[in-house]
Amino acid sequence: MGHTVKRGTLPAKRPYLWLSWLLVLAGLFHFCSGIIPKSVTKRVKEAVVLSCDYNTSTEELTSLRIYWQKDSKMVLTVLLGKVKVWPEYENRTITDITDNPRIVILALRLSDSGTYTCIIQKPEKRTYKVEHLTSVRLMIRADFPVPTINDLGNPSPNIRRVICSTSGGFPRPHLYWLENGEELNATNTTLSQDPETELYTISSELDFNMTSNHSFLCLVKYGDLTVSQTFDWKKSKPTPSANQHLPWTIIIPVSACGISVIIAVILTLTCLTCSK
Ligand SMILES: *[C@@H]1O[C@H](CO)[C@@H](O)[C@H](O)[C@H]1NC(C)=O
Ligand SMILES: *[C@@H]1O[C@H](CO)[C@@H](O)[C@H](O)[C@H]1NC(C)=O
Ligand SMILES: *[C@@H]1O[C@H](CO)[C@@H](O)[C@H](O)[C@H]1NC(C)=O
Ligand SMILES: *[C@@H]1O[C@H](CO)[C@@H](O)[C@H](O)[C@H]1NC(C)=O
Ligand SMILES: *[C@@H]1O[C@H](CO)[C@@H](O)[C@H](O)[C@H]1NC(C)=O
Ligand SMILES: *[C@@H]1O[C@H](CO)[C@@H](O)[C@H](O)[C@H]1NC(C)=O
Repeated sequence: MGHTVKRGTLPAKRPYLWLSWLLVLAGLFHFCSGIIPKSVTKRVKEAVVLSCDYNTSTEELTSLRIYWQKDSKMVLTVLLGKVKVWPEYENRTITDITDNPRIVILALRLSDSGTYTCIIQKPEKRTYKVEHLTSVRLMIRADFPVPTINDLGNPSPNIRRVICSTSGGFPRPHLYWLENGEELNATNTTLSQDPETELYTISSELDFNMTSNHSFLCLVKYGDLTVSQTFDWKKSKPTPSANQHLPWTIIIPVSACGISVIIAVILTLTCLTCSK
């Protein structure tokens, strides 16, 4: 007993005492019923609608007590139609207390995964009795997008450097560079985790000899999932530096032509006025 009281930074007041009581009761009920809660999978930043599955009239709702808890922590309460949201869910929860009470949690985080329970209490002889209880298991996924491979140019003659990167996934990823199924030595592999969202970013560089054809695979493994991107290098491929010269080869003759025409026109006009 008293889990929430100890956990919370707020002083222990009477409502918190019976709230913790309720958590215990709910826990017991859940344990005894042995019902596997239905399960919902969402992605990070998405929204989820969690319903109490309790149909009632809007009039009756004002006399009910509705509690939403996640595992053993409070999410929100609706007492006499008044909504109280716990700080972790503040500013990203919508409460709908019409005929079927439900909540919407926006901007889902990895830490939101868990079992959510809605408990509805009804007034009965100067006290409240648990009228309804429902649980939903929420799983949050964070998939890495397909990695991107970018050219970093030539660190030395005949050596090309490319970088493979992806971000916004979970759990901790591992990156491999492969050619013909063999692992290559990567340089500068970096892994970082956003302290707020817990999502990872990974990148890795690869240097290769430009004088032969290559087909590289950048493979990112996380949990039991993988994402990958291939990078093909053809020896005969023109280098980007040659492409950069292309605009000038057009601009110079074009502007030269333009200038010649203008000069010719001016000269002709001057001659015409001279001859008069
Ligand atoms: C609640 O009402 C909806 C339609 O209004 C119905 O589809 C649903 O089955 C009802 N649920 C329960 C638990 O009575
Ligand atoms: C919620 O929004 C209000 C007003 O914008 C702000 O004062 C409060 O700090 C926010 N709470 C959280 C937990 O972000
Ligand atoms: C990778 O590095 C190891 C040790 O640093 C070296 O023995 C091996 O030859 C390297 N492999 C390639 C393909 O460069
Ligand atoms: C690693 O990356 C840093 C900056 O991103 C760069 O200065 C350094 O030269 C790189 N080292 C290698 C071996 O690629
Ligand atoms: C690249 O490969 C060619 C042919 O295999 C070799 O002659 C050359 O030394 C290599 N260059 C570097 C920088 O390793
Ligand atoms: C490299 O690729 C090009 C284009 O596909 C091909 O014409 C050439 O024969 C290849 N060279 C080698 C050594 O495989």
